[in-house]
Amino acid sequence: MEPSPTFDLGRFNPASPELRANPYPIYHLLRQAMPVCPTPVGAWLVSRYADGESILADKRFATIDLNRLGQAGQLPETPSLAAARAAMGRTMLFMDPPRHGRIRSLVSKAFSPRMVESLRPRIRQIAEDLLNTLEEENEADLIRDFAYPLPVIVIAEMLGVPPEDRALFRRWTIDLARLIDFVQSTEAVDRAMKAMEETAEYLHTLAWERRQNPQDDLLSALIAAEERGDRLTEDEMLANVVLLLGAGHETTANLIGNGMLALMKHRDQMERLRREPHLLPGAIEECLRYDSPVQATGRRALENVAIAGIEIPRDSHVIILIGACNRDPDRFPDPDRFDITRDRNEHLAFGGGIHYCLGANLARAEAQIAVDSLAHRFPKLDLACDAIEYRDMFNLRGLKALPVRLA
Ligand code: HEM
Repeated sequence: MEPSPTFDLGRFNPASPELRANPYPIYHLLRQAMPVCPTPVGAWLVSRYADGESILADKRFATIDLNRLGQAGQLPETPSLAAARAAMGRTMLFMDPPRHGRIRSLVSKAFSPRMVESLRPRIRQIAEDLLNTLEEENEADLIRDFAYPLPVIVIAEMLGVPPEDRALFRRWTIDLARLIDFVQSTEAVDRAMKAMEETAEYLHTLAWERRQNPQDDLLSALIAAEERGDRLTEDEMLANVVLLLGAGHETTANLIGNGMLALMKHRDQMERLRREPHLLPGAIEECLRYDSPVQATGRRALENVAIAGIEIPRDSHVIILIGACNRDPDRFPDPDRFDITRDRNEHLAFGGGIHYCLGANLARAEAQIAVDSLAHRFPKLDLACDAIEYRDMFNLRGLKALPVRLA
């Protein structure tokens, strides 16, 4: 009889450079040994696709308990930590029904497939403008020069943030993103809360202007909802606008960066994509699956629930390792192979259930346009370095830089 594999949980350390550089071999070992794995901090790691998919859709699970935020990193209780809990609790991401549905429905119209389709020409224009600035260059950093600015310009325009203020959001969203990562320190929480205060103050002033002079933008629409008494307080409105800015920026930039890296490492597929543009939507799905920009999400069991024969006690947290589920060989044949023509590619990169990513249509459109514009503008595009480094985050997986030769 085959001995059952064992797994040293010490290898699953979100702060370790080994895991950040390449989590996938570690996920495979974890999934084989303990697909539902208890951790010393009381949360359970889930690494099989079928289990992840069913938990996300299961009403016996709710959002995580924000009072436990920081406990895994054993952070001391500070005013910033308390403020972070309160602010996150006002976003739809950390709300349960019925409050969740009310807030989500106020925002969701702006992200419907029809609205996103109507934005495509403008997204194309923004992508082309950014690439125009690189036309004379031989080399570029695709993260700094393209993948970051594109989504921030799109979401800032949707909200109605004036162009001259966009640069502010880059710093704010980078600091804010630390709140939904595993690796936390008091210093990171303090920085995130400073960014949160500055963003909220900025948006408060912008909202005041929009109240006097409404425009055809998302901020004005949310203010109208608040003023109609649609049960959206100003604090909730501001918290959810901050969520849209953060969620719409970092994640999409990482999809463009991780996706372009995979395509440049698989030149045959990049060439095929140039020749057969109808493969573009499938190629972006494969980028989302292969190197998912969000690696994990959490839920809390409202009752005792058996997952794969293992009893998860009521009130426990489960961490659904999206990146591991998306490489599960029981769901995706030959899961470590990057294949832009893969069929039945229903990955979990956008989560699932009631919190399924609100911006999924927009993120897909932006990534499709970004990859298409790059591939056609620079036919000789290639990596300009041997070693690639990922940022020091586990959950939001993205590159520090992506140096390329353009010509
Ligand atoms: C590649 C890009 C993106 C990825 C991989 C991504 C991923 C995710 C995931 C995994 C969740 C679900 C979290 C959970 O179930 O716990 C989520 C939720 C969410 N995302 Fe995205 N996202 C992306 C882009 C965007 C964009 C562009 C926006 C909007 C501008 C956005 C807005 C949201 C919002 C508002 C939620 C919360 C939905 C809710 O709680 O009902 N995301 N996203």
